Order: sequence, then C-alpha cells, then structure tokens
Amino acid sequence: MATFFALTSRGLVDVLRDELAELGARKLDKEPGGVYFDSNWATAYRANLRLRTATRVVRPILHFPAYKNEDLYNNIRKFDFTSLIDADGTIAVEASVRDSAFQDQRFVAMKVKDAIVDQFREKTGVRPSVDTENPDLVIVVRAFKNHFSVSLDTSGDPLFKRGYRTGTGEAPLKEHVAAGLLRMAEWDGETPIVDPMCGSGTILIEAALQARKVAPGTLRRRFGFMNWKGFEEEVFQRELEATLALEEEAGEKLEATLKRLYPNPVPDGAKVENEERRRPLFFGYDVDSKVIKIAQANAREAGVDDLISFRRHPMETLEAPIEKGIIITNPPYGARLGEKESLKDTYRDLAFTLKNRFKGWTAHVLSGDPELSSAMKLKATRKSLVYNGPIECRLLRYEVF
Ligand SMILES: C[S@@+](CC[C@H](N)C(=O)[O-])C[C@H]1O[C@@H](n2cnc3c(N)ncnc32)[C@H](O)[C@@H]1O
Repeated sequence: MATFFALTSRGLVDVLRDELAELGARKLDKEPGGVYFDSNWATAYRANLRLRTATRVVRPILHFPAYKNEDLYNNIRKFDFTSLIDADGTIAVEASVRDSAFQDQRFVAMKVKDAIVDQFREKTGVRPSVDTENPDLVIVVRAFKNHFSVSLDTSGDPLFKRGYRTGTGEAPLKEHVAAGLLRMAEWDGETPIVDPMCGSGTILIEAALQARKVAPGTLRRRFGFMNWKGFEEEVFQRELEATLALEEEAGEKLEATLKRLYPNPVPDGAKVENEERRRPLFFGYDVDSKVIKIAQANAREAGVDDLISFRRHPMETLEAPIEKGIIITNPPYGARLGEKESLKDTYRDLAFTLKNRFKGWTAHVLSGDPELSSAMKLKATRKSLVYNGPIECRLLRYEVF
C-alpha cells in the first residue's frame, strides 16, 4: 500500500472523489486540488486507466520545510531515486513556488535536478540526463510558504490527453472537464444528450465513451510508471484486460437503449441517406461548419462516430432531434470569444429555443460570466462551481417548462 494523489481542476474534486471510490481506492482525503488515496499498484494502474476527471496521478515521496538551498538539496537526497530508473535514463523536474523564500521556480527545479543527478553520479558513476519532452521520470515539486512537497508523476502525459483530438475549435473544454460536467449533471449513461453549441464535440465524445464504457487510458496505453524499475507488467496487463472487458458488458446495455429509441431501424440495403441509417444517442450542433468537421473527425478517432450526429445548425432555430433527453452545453463567453453585447443576444436566444422547443427537458449550461447567463432570464435550480482552465464558471441547471 502507498499513498497517491489524483489531481484535478478546482470544482471537480467531489466528482473525482466519487470516481476513486468506485475504483476501490481507500482512505480518500480531499484537498483543494485533488484527492489523496491509499492503494496498491494495481489500483494505481486502474486509476490511470479509468479516471475520467483527473489530470494526473502522482505518488508523494517527500514533505519537508526548506529555508536555504542546502535544506532543499539535502532533503531531496533523502529519497533514493536510483531505485526508480537506470542511471542512463532521463528526468524532468516541474517546480512551482508560492509565498516562499525561494522565488524563482527555475532555480528550485535546477537545485532539485542537481541533487538527483549527484545522487546517481556518486552511486553509479553515471548521471541521468534531462529531457523535457519525453522523460522517464517526472519529479513534481511544490513549495508553499517554505514547505516543500515532492511527488513522482505516475501518469506521464496528462490524463486529459486521451489522444482522440485531431483538432479543436476556439475555447475547447479539456476532456476531464467535459467528463466532470457529465457527472455534475448526474447523467445516467443512457439518456440522449443534445449540445446545441458543441464546438469540437468534447462533451458528446466523452459521453459516448462513457456509454460504451471505453476507459480513457485504453486509448493511449502509455503511462509514466511503465518506465520505472518496479513496473509490474503482469499486474498492469490484468488491469488493462479487466478494463477492456467493461466495454463488452456495456455493449448489450447500449444496444437495448438504442432499440428502445429506434424500434424500427431503416433496413440495411434500403436507399436512404447515411445519416438516416444511423442511430445516434448524442446530437451536436454548431453554427460553424469547420468545427463540425473537426468534431466528426475527433469522434471517428475516438471510435464513437456511430453514436453521435454532428451537424451544422444555428441554435436559434434548432428543433429537438429526439423526444426526450437532456441538454449539456458550453456556450461562448466573453473572456475568450466574441463581444459581450452580442453574446447576451446569444444567451437570450438560447433561452427562447429551450422554452419553445425543448419543453420538459433539463438543460445544463456552463457559463463563465454571470452577466451573460442572467440575460437568459431563466431561474437556475442549481449552480455548481467549476473552473474551465483559469476561468471561474458555474454549471447552471434549468428545468425547462
Ligand atoms: C465555447 S465553444 C464550445 C466548445 C466545446 N465545448 C468544445 O469543447 O470544443 C462555443 C461554440 O458555440 C458556437 N456558437 C456560437 N454561437 C452559436 C449559435 N448561434 N448557434 C450554434 N453555435 C454557436 C461557436 O461556434 C463555438 O464553437
């Protein structure tokens, strides 16, 4: 058993905690930036493979106060880094400092690197080199008020990089935030979802992956821990197989859902447009035909294009494409796209579309600007805080009558 820390964006800690509990992690302890948990390596591999709302999983190794350079250097050397990688391996140090006597994070990163490199040289005569692109071992150093915490990044590439993005529109949501919104909306995994301003389609692609129970890590299958000396390949393979088996179980349930929604599918061989033969569970629209092409390419890359219909259509005249579902959407907001006054019209029009053509639906709207969302003049029944990058947002829930 060891302690790990799963990191996420502010506002997503609660949903990440729920995910970890479902994966069998124990002693869950929430912090503002993530969740500590105790687990063996099997569960840590599982967390990397399956977590949808985390950005990375790290293993904390050292906590110490440091006021002088020597404190930092000597404390780093208390951990035996030679037990993790070979001397001809590569390392990278990521440092961030806040309210600390050490003001320059590049200096902190260099001191930590020196301490590690010296440890290898003294023990083996050889030193690892620094590689910021593709290192075998990433050491994450955080200093707050002279208190240092040092962790090893088990994930490698950030976990939100699922690998299916061929491109994006402007202001795309990160994949783990989109997955977080689905959990915050308490989506049940089978109700149809409409995104009337879908951009590159992140919310719907994440939903389709969930409906199929495709774990994000199975799309990339490369993780930081694979480069470490103690990597237990057999244990990882078992976790990978168990994770892939979830997809088979999900297949039957998904087929039953689609049969319920489409009791009379168009027979194969009938002369119809391709779109009519498909049975989408998810519907994405955008006024911009370029992002619709990107969304389609991303969905193909993720292997879920059969479940999603992406079409160019302005939200102002959108009709409900299916009898019952929910809306989850991330309309443009001023900080990144367009001007405020014209955006207020967009929000007013969204409210009009909801009230007139989506009666009885629940809508979840991610808004980064209260002035814009109040232009909708609808009463939110719930407002949940979530950060989209640096932007403080609210996920607003509306029951549309
Ligand atoms: C913040 S982006 C959505 C990003 C998306 N969630 C993603 O992850 O890529 C907002 C989108 O709304 C679209 N949009 C703006 N006005 C629209 C309208 N009137 N009808 C439909 N889409 C619109 C923009 O083209 C843009 O792609």
